[in-house]
Amino acid sequence: MCGIVAYVGGREAYPVILKGLKRLEYRGYDSSGVALLSDGLVVHKRKGRVSVLEEELTGRDLRSPIGIGHTRWATHGEPSDRNAHPHVSRVGRLAMVHNGIIENYVQLRQELAGKGYSFRSDTDTEVLLHFIEDIRDHNGCTLEEALRIALRRVVGAYVIVILDADNPDTLLAARKGSPLVIGIGRGEHFLASDASPIVEYTQQVVYVNDHELAIVRPDELILKNLGNERVTPWVQSLDMELAAIEKEGYEHFMLKEVFEQPRSIRDCLRGRLDMTEGRIHLRGVEEHIDRLKETQRIILLGCGTSWHAGLVAEYVFEQICRVPVEVEYASEFRYRDPVVRSGDVVIAISQSGETADTLVAIERAKEQGALILGVLNVVGSSIARLSHAGAYTHAGPEIGVASTKAFTAQLTVLIMMALRIAEARGTIGRDRHLRLLQELDAIPEKAQALLADTSAVRRVAARWARARDMLFLGRGPGFPVALEGALKLKEISYIHAEGYPAAEMKHGPIALVEEGLPVVFVATRDAFHEKLISNMQEIRARRGSVIAVVTEGDTLVPGLADEVLEVPACDPLLAPILAVIPLQLLAYHIGVEKGLDVDKPRNLAKSVTVE
Ligand code: M6R
Repeated sequence: MCGIVAYVGGREAYPVILKGLKRLEYRGYDSSGVALLSDGLVVHKRKGRVSVLEEELTGRDLRSPIGIGHTRWATHGEPSDRNAHPHVSRVGRLAMVHNGIIENYVQLRQELAGKGYSFRSDTDTEVLLHFIEDIRDHNGCTLEEALRIALRRVVGAYVIVILDADNPDTLLAARKGSPLVIGIGRGEHFLASDASPIVEYTQQVVYVNDHELAIVRPDELILKNLGNERVTPWVQSLDMELAAIEKEGYEHFMLKEVFEQPRSIRDCLRGRLDMTEGRIHLRGVEEHIDRLKETQRIILLGCGTSWHAGLVAEYVFEQICRVPVEVEYASEFRYRDPVVRSGDVVIAISQSGETADTLVAIERAKEQGALILGVLNVVGSSIARLSHAGAYTHAGPEIGVASTKAFTAQLTVLIMMALRIAEARGTIGRDRHLRLLQELDAIPEKAQALLADTSAVRRVAARWARARDMLFLGRGPGFPVALEGALKLKEISYIHAEGYPAAEMKHGPIALVEEGLPVVFVATRDAFHEKLISNMQEIRARRGSVIAVVTEGDTLVPGLADEVLEVPACDPLLAPILAVIPLQLLAYHIGVEKGLDVDKPRNLAKSVTVE
């Protein structure tokens, strides 16, 4: 949440920052701003998208070799010019951008108010900046020392970057709980919330760790811990291509990412699904296979779409590994004082690897002795660092705020994990194992075939774009797909949507059904097919409209449904990977029909780094 970009070096800072902010807009987009040094400290900030700021600054002389920028997702204070970052200190010589939440800001604000400070914004960020400045002025120490002292008192999560008009070649940054990457160029450095603003300038990066401070000059990068000891920066090479973060001709990132799925699923399988030996190779799983073999319980944690991936995985793990599985919202798990035993295995599922709720939940489980495995898309993310092991999804950067290709890659990794663990536990027969491997291997081509003709889903979208409500129903592994379909629709089209197990309908939601209510069934062929058909009859009997995702060649459902969306046949355990794709497209096309910004839906942010 919130995107930070900063630059120091031989280029003009403003164009670098502006471009970077556009790349980071997926992290928050209610206001943005920049601070530069040209003839003193200059700050420009505006409510709205980065383009609003850009428009306002077009034609201005913004020359400066150093600067900081921010795109915001509001936490403290409404989206407005005055709450936008950067914030400026009382004396007006320091500017700061911040990503995260300072939990004890009320107390700090009161202390500062008692000393005569007043505040121009409602933000915790401004409080922190005044607090740092106050320590510096009161103690007569350097800004770096003041920052160190301040951060020892701060409770919460942050990445901050400070621009000091009295130190015009130095940026000061610190991190705890939110991501910060520093790109190393020749005589220049780039700071950002992720690598996307950096990748076109350099491939050499350092991921700053929690409780580290960075002192960044054109030719120098110093990392220190809060005890003022130097830390050797670990320089890594970026594994990201520029094309991956550009639209490449698609109208929206979301559409591009939906269409990338045949490739992203293939990338996810590559080197792991070994059809010659008929085996799965996942290093992170292999390292802990003895423990996984013996475990009495697997807990899957995630939020939003990642939680849905966990729900699908529950069916797979229970069916083929014969191990009890619990799937939990990370946010609920962490506060429930859960019983975790040392033999338990916790699988943390997160696209970004930065979700605060998931991060803290696994901290708790780790303290209680559980083995933590991460299923993550972003390499080097905070959850990756906290996990004992895991498997990356290799879906490539996902820029659209709604998760699409990350979800199908999560399913692919979780299924591979289950297959390997089932093999080790001896709970799956050789034939069934091999058949599932073959089926998994065929998924990318089937996804490709499905995406070759999307006319049916566009037709459905056009017909129901003005719906007020929609129900999504499924059974077995189709139930979490229904939940995901409903979430996508809510996020992208702002249509009220509910996902339910189809059998639950008669216990309440059926009261909502009236003439014309669109009800989407995830009705791919499996053991529940006939029961689902009965549920469709119940909807029809009440004059609801039925839209069904079915397996190609289904002869029963088309006679009952108003519209069918076909997906290729596959094993029912793998069907969610394919069945979700038409639902992603349905949400996308309805959003487009309604003229909405599908890549940046209102109120959302890609990386939810606050609780
Ligand atoms: O980065 P994560 O996978 O941990 O994010 C979890 C949720 O915030 C995320 O899936 C969210 O629900 C998306 N907006 C779904 O499209």
